[in-house]
Amino acid sequence: MESQTQQTYWITGASSGIGQALSTELAKQGHKLIVSSRKREELDKLRSKFPDLIEVLPCDVSNRQEMENLFGTKMPELKSLDGIFLCAGVCEYIDLPDFNLDAFQRVFSVNYHGTVYSCAAAHPLLSQSAVQNQGKKKPFIVGLCSMSSYLGFPRAEAYGASKAAMAYFLDSLRADVGDIIDVIPVYMGFVETPMTAQNNFPMPFIISAEQAAKGILKQFRKRPLRINFPLRLHLVLSFFSKLQRLWYLSVIPRMRRSGSNI
Ligand SMILES: NC(=O)c1ccc[n+]([C@@H]2O[C@H](COP(=O)([O-])OP(=O)(O)OC[C@H]3O[C@@H](n4cnc5c(N)ncnc54)[C@H](OP(=O)(O)O)[C@@H]3O)[C@@H](O)[C@H]2O)c1
Repeated sequence: MESQTQQTYWITGASSGIGQALSTELAKQGHKLIVSSRKREELDKLRSKFPDLIEVLPCDVSNRQEMENLFGTKMPELKSLDGIFLCAGVCEYIDLPDFNLDAFQRVFSVNYHGTVYSCAAAHPLLSQSAVQNQGKKKPFIVGLCSMSSYLGFPRAEAYGASKAAMAYFLDSLRADVGDIIDVIPVYMGFVETPMTAQNNFPMPFIISAEQAAKGILKQFRKRPLRINFPLRLHLVLSFFSKLQRLWYLSVIPRMRRSGSNI
């Protein structure tokens, strides 16, 4: 990735989509990986491709009890982590007037609380890596957020808000631990994965999971404060975030008619 030295990374949401593609790229680069998600069979399939590099650690990131002392309980031999990629996530859309409060709870419990629990679980191991490296090479937290946070999107009251909360959490965490751990939210556009396979609306500038993984890792090399990928959607949405009246009066009505969101 950023050097030839073998590093040890934890990747959540590794059983599918972007997390799986990132795991494959990083294993090809020779790094050691601990891969997590709920479906053990999918993780085992990934491991079978790189048996010397990958260890599986099935867990439900939304389960606070399971996540508390996750590594101490399930991998007591692990002493440090060089970085983590938080890719576990779910998306459910809201169809008003049904506020579907259960959907809000499910989405927040994985996307927001799951992120917090994962960071809490990994923090001692990342700090240990910072001590060992004596500031020469900072450990990191990379979290998959969403460009849906830039503006209000129809039907995204639960998903978009959970990703905005996740991004804020990561920014705030950087303010506290940034001197020893790099914290990098990834504002992601549309990626072809099982998550977006449910969408029946146009997804501008959609890219493959492999393109997403390569793009994230390329931008990551410079350790930016945030990653925006792909750039074209970032530019379009940034433009409208400066001209919100135009967004809500002109773009959103057209999106609503086509059942669109992000
Ligand atoms: N695809 C996009 O267009 C897009 C855009 C912006 C942001 N993102 C974000 O990118 C991340 C990856 O999304 P994706 O598109 O790759 O989706 P995906 O293919 O559906 O993958 C989601 C991953 O999260 C895991 N997961 C879900 N709930 C979990 C839980 N409770 N505990 C542990 N793991 C859990 C799933 O594995 P199990 O089912 O095995 O648990 C799976 O590995 C998500 O955070 C998503 O919000 C995606």
